[in-house]
Amino acid sequence: MRVFSTVQSMREWSDSCFRAGERIGFVPTMGCLHEGHMSLVRLAREMADVTVVSIFVNPTQFGPGEDFERYPRVLGSDLSMCEATGVDAVFTPAVSEMYAEDASTIVEEAAISRGMCGASRPGHFRGVATVVAKLFNIVKPAVAVFGRKDAQQLMVIKRMVRDLNFPVEIVAAPIVRESDGLAMSSRNRYLSADERMVALGINRALRWAEARYANGERSARSIAAGIGERISGGGVAVPEYVEVVAAEDMKPVSELGPGIMIAVAARVGATRLIDNVVLGVV
Ligand code: PAF
Repeated sequence: MRVFSTVQSMREWSDSCFRAGERIGFVPTMGCLHEGHMSLVRLAREMADVTVVSIFVNPTQFGPGEDFERYPRVLGSDLSMCEATGVDAVFTPAVSEMYAEDASTIVEEAAISRGMCGASRPGHFRGVATVVAKLFNIVKPAVAVFGRKDAQQLMVIKRMVRDLNFPVEIVAAPIVRESDGLAMSSRNRYLSADERMVALGINRALRWAEARYANGERSARSIAAGIGERISGGGVAVPEYVEVVAAEDMKPVSELGPGIMIAVAARVGATRLIDNVVLGVV
């Protein structure tokens, strides 16, 4: 497995793959890798000839007072996981390699990114879109895989790729859960044992919503209220939003139906968690 920390060395390797006729599959990450990331890597490997993972904690997508400084950085174990999963190359640049001190160009998606996480984390998706555009230009993937847990991020990236004509196919991978249902996230590491128990309430509330929908409930408002009550019931988790939206464009809807997403963000102690479910045909 090759490890590159400069833009130039990463580019040269990508160019050599291109000349050899090899399609690059790409999984952008911020490190602290877990089984959820590895499921993205396995999908990328199926869809391409060589696989690249980037590990870069991107400062521009963190707001003031967010967890940029304390975001877990565990490069050694990340590299071992990548190697064990058959990754061909890892791109792990320093912040100074990715951003010139006077960098003044941004990529901003201006519709899908506005609500939900975009409303509570102003500037977050601008940082995500900018860094992903840069990574696409450096790694030059034919396919890039993103997880459905970050559903709004996925749709923002899809829209960016469409609008700016990036020659890359965006593939969405299913949410990977712990055996107790908690959606895998690098931020789960922040949870104490008690908080982790509380965090399970988020997935339980989403399962409750699915069951209500299967039993005929169609009101988005009543489902959102029920989820909010269930999450905050223990008094420890604080829902930030419960939104019922069309999965394609994140626009709020009033009626539940197939393809409708119920998305939740909640704080458990100091940790912000997100999760979602997309309703099927019943
Ligand atoms: O989902 C993430 O880990 C990040 O938002 C991403 C896509 C790697 C951009 O920094």
